[in-house]
Amino acid sequence: EFHLGAKDVRFASDGAFGRFDREQVQRGFQIYKEVCSACHSLKYVSFYQLKDLGYNEAEVKAIANQWAIEVPTVNPETGEPSTRKALISDRFPSPYANETAARAANNNALPPDLSLITESREGGAHYVYSLLTGYRNQQGYRNAKGQELLKEFPDVKTPAGLHFNPYFANLNIAMPPPLTSDGQVTFADGTKSTVDQMAKDVSAFLVWTAEPTLENRHRAGWVTMLFLLTATVLAYLAYRNLWANAK
Ligand code: HEM
Repeated sequence: EFHLGAKDVRFASDGAFGRFDREQVQRGFQIYKEVCSACHSLKYVSFYQLKDLGYNEAEVKAIANQWAIEVPTVNPETGEPSTRKALISDRFPSPYANETAARAANNNALPPDLSLITESREGGAHYVYSLLTGYRNQQGYRNAKGQELLKEFPDVKTPAGLHFNPYFANLNIAMPPPLTSDGQVTFADGTKSTVDQMAKDVSAFLVWTAEPTLENRHRAGWVTMLFLLTATVLAYLAYRNLWANAK
C-alpha cells in the first residue's frame, strides 16, 4: 500500500450536526468556475441551484451566461456545432465536445464529472483536499509505514505526462496540479487564497454539489430522533398508567 489515506482536515459539513459554511462554499464555487471547469463538468448541478448559496436571480443569470451550451444544429457556414448561452435551467456542461476530445486534451485520461465525486471516492471531501494538496516529488517519498517507494521498487518511475501524487490510488495521476500558487484566485470576500485555503474551499463546494440537501437530512434526522424519544416516554408513561391498579 503505497498510497496514503486522506489527511485529517475538518469541514463544517462533517458529522451529524454538519452544516454548510455558505461563504466557504461560495469561494469553492469561484475556484470551480475559474480553475476546475476548464476540464470538469458538474452534470447533476443546475445553475439555478446556486441560489441556495446566497446568489440572487440576477447573479445566477449572469453566471449561467458565462457558459456555452452546445445545441444539436451545425453552423451551416463553418460546419462547427452551434452554441447558445446557458440558462439558469441548464446544468454545468463539460468543456469538451465528447469523450474523445476530452481524452485527447488530457493525455488519454478522462476528467471525471465532479458532481458526485465526494460521494464516489472513499474519504469524500477529505480525499479531494488531500489529492489537491498532495502532489510531490517521488524522490524520497515514504508511505504511512515509512517504506521508501524508490527503495522498495527502484524501477518505479512516473511516466511522462503523469504526475506523482501518493493520495491517488495508483500514485500517478493525469491531472496536473490545478492549484499551484497562493493568490491564484482572488476571493470576492477578501479571504486570503492560499493553496491550502483554495483546496479546502473547493472540496467544501464539492460536498454541496453532491448533496445540496445535506442540512435538511441532518435536521430531519434530529427531529425524528426527538419525536421517537418523546413517543417512547409517552408510551412508557401510558403503560405505567394503564397497569397502575393491576396486581
Ligand atoms: C481527475 C478534481 C482541475 C484534469 C480529478 C479527480 C478529482 C479532480 C477529484 C478524480 C481523482 C480520482 O479519480 O480519484 C479537480 C479539482 C480541480 C481540477 C477540484 C480544480 C481545483 C482540473 C483541471 C484539469 C483536470 C484544470 C485539466 C487541465 C483532470 C484529469 C483527471 C482528473 C485528466 C483524470 C485523472 C486520471 O484519471 O489520471 N480531478 N480537478 N482537473 N482531473 Fe481534475
